[in-house]
Amino acid sequence: MKLRRVSAVSIKTAAARLRAGGVVAFPTETVYGLGADGLNPRACARIFEIKGRPRFDPLILHECSAARARRLFSRVPAAAARLMKAFWPGPLTLVLPKAAAVPAIVTSGLKTVAVRVPAHPTALALIKAAGRPIAAPSANSFGRLSPTTAAHVRKQLGAGPDLILDGGKTRIGVESTIITFAGGRPVLLRPGGLPLEEIEKIAGPVGSAGKPKGRPPAPGCLKKHYAPAAKLRIVARGAKVKDGPRTACLAFSEKPKGKFAATAVLSPAGDLREAAANLFGALHRLENSGAKVIYAQRVPAHGLGRAIMDRLRRAAA
Ligand code: TXA
Ligand code: MG
Repeated sequence: MKLRRVSAVSIKTAAARLRAGGVVAFPTETVYGLGADGLNPRACARIFEIKGRPRFDPLILHECSAARARRLFSRVPAAAARLMKAFWPGPLTLVLPKAAAVPAIVTSGLKTVAVRVPAHPTALALIKAAGRPIAAPSANSFGRLSPTTAAHVRKQLGAGPDLILDGGKTRIGVESTIITFAGGRPVLLRPGGLPLEEIEKIAGPVGSAGKPKGRPPAPGCLKKHYAPAAKLRIVARGAKVKDGPRTACLAFSEKPKGKFAATAVLSPAGDLREAAANLFGALHRLENSGAKVIYAQRVPAHGLGRAIMDRLRRAAA
């Protein structure tokens, strides 16, 4: 049905879908990705909804050349530049300080962004035709096996994506290796399609995220995370919140009554997708207001609302 064989025509169709805010599953050399316009927060919000991800786990941005990929970073250490030169296109994801243009929903509010250039003709042609970086996690339901064929994608995600590009079985079959330079030196966040030995030949010794200094392997693993400088308290949507100059309020769909340091409405239309896309930006703004306490109203706990509530709970932990 929505499964289309890879061809010049289907790639063009898929790229148009991506430009219009749609979601397209496509083959890479590692696994199938669930792609959306990486600069469009609402399109990215659809990825979380389709995957049923229970929380915001940051996404990987995919580019069609190393030169374009570099523009997504604000700083590139020499060792990282050598890795790009040696292994892109290829199954290596680099985590580096993000450029301002990268939306908060892609990085879950982190200051770093994960980027890679896939070594797959279809993926490269699609990104090039779309003319923008493509955000794409593996195209599986949360917690399930990663997809290496278009049929796996259809089985798990069914009617979710607007289009599934069928490029046959993926070549490598495991996800990319993720290296972070967030702390300045290279650290392995996820072993994957590119062997660590190959990486160490170019970048020197790579640290392991598991053992030293209790650094968690991925941001989603922290119980307390995404916490603003202010205290965050979760309240019922209808609840009366004590207002004041040191208090901020994060509302779902209706502007809160009272005098606050700052308020934010996540989605006037009550659209959970829009609300999710606005969440981190709103929390940043409220924190910057100088408020000591942020009261965050509950949102409906279905669809992306569950992800929003999970973030709020982590922030409140
Ligand atoms: O091979 C792959 O990498 C596939 C294909 C589609 O490219 N993609 C993939 O994406 O495996 P995903 O979302 O399933 O895994 C991305 C991982 C997540 O565990 C996430 O926590 C981590 O990358 N990640 C993303 N941005 C990060 C960041 N700024 N810092 C640390 N970890 C990050
Ligand atoms: Mg995955």
